[in-house]
Amino acid sequence: MRVGMLTGGGDCPGLNAVIRAAVRKGIQHYGDEFVGFMEGWRGVLDDVTMPLTLETTSGILHRGGTILRSSRTNVKKIPGGFEKCLEVIQKHKLDALIALGGDDTQSISLALAERGLKCVGVPKTVDNDLSGTDACFGFDTAVSIATEAVDRLHSTAEAHNRVMVVEVMGRDAGWIAVTSGIAGGADVILVPEVPIDIDEVCRLVTYRREHGKLFSIVVVAEGATFPGGEQESHGTNVDSFGHVRLSGIGQVLAEEIEKRTKYETRSVNLGHTQRGGTPTAYDRMLATRYGVAAIDLLHAGKSSRLVVLRGTEITDIPLADAIAKTRTVGEDLLAVIKGLQPPPPAV
Ligand code: F6P
Repeated sequence: MRVGMLTGGGDCPGLNAVIRAAVRKGIQHYGDEFVGFMEGWRGVLDDVTMPLTLETTSGILHRGGTILRSSRTNVKKIPGGFEKCLEVIQKHKLDALIALGGDDTQSISLALAERGLKCVGVPKTVDNDLSGTDACFGFDTAVSIATEAVDRLHSTAEAHNRVMVVEVMGRDAGWIAVTSGIAGGADVILVPEVPIDIDEVCRLVTYRREHGKLFSIVVVAEGATFPGGEQESHGTNVDSFGHVRLSGIGQVLAEEIEKRTKYETRSVNLGHTQRGGTPTAYDRMLATRYGVAAIDLLHAGKSSRLVVLRGTEITDIPLADAIAKTRTVGEDLLAVIKGLQPPPPAV
């Protein structure tokens, strides 16, 4: 089988591990040949490729980023884009395509599958918000980085009696905020799923001061909003999928907390640090399992499927189901956060 592969959307640690695993299994067990498209769908449209062999995929397991590079190219926005993609895929005599990406990337795979191309997807996003899977690779690494940052901020917050607000990634879902916040012992955790109640935030910060602790840590997801408010963004430009660049809720929140409580407050935006560098052992393992499963699926004759993790098992679901909705943080985890905080005073 001749198989094309690409990585689309924001990068995340573990992409190289998926590429390596699919190529190794494909070449060594099925006699496959691989073509790597550079920079996501842009590489397919412009026919920019690199060979994916045992040699070119050697030594990349532990490396962050992606040897195929990435972009947020939206084929739907390009007149004749799908026809062009199919032409290039035909030129390379490909039997199938494996796309590593989140919902935007997978929506293009689905559209190509509807035009007759065999496509299999691998779920990738540090936000961990693709539905149908219990985990996307890259998330564990992002959480480790964010948790270490929260740990480190404790000592400087304590030294200065400050409130530290830590902004983490999470556009529509607060998985990184909740996990790093709980693991790092944050006093307040704010997510896109629940509008920010600023009175409650200040009550929690003040409560700590009144109970012997002279500093506080607040973790906020970049996509969190005040009731009825817009998400904070860096300018109004949108990418080709219509997303603005989120940034700034941490600073806005820090100013509001300081104004209301009079406690000195600082904000830190962890930004792309969370997506950089070497993947954790968990992400390398998950990514490798996904890579092997993706090539096995194609050889089992399946198409328009996404490999997913359910419990501890790797299985697959229709691509359409994965992009239908965002997987948000559930009430169970929100209840854990509440359980660690002092309840609101009875009225
Ligand atoms: O979709 C994953 C994500 O990391 C979001 O959390 C974040 O808003 C966005 O990508 C950042 O995108 P970019 O790398 O294009 O700035």
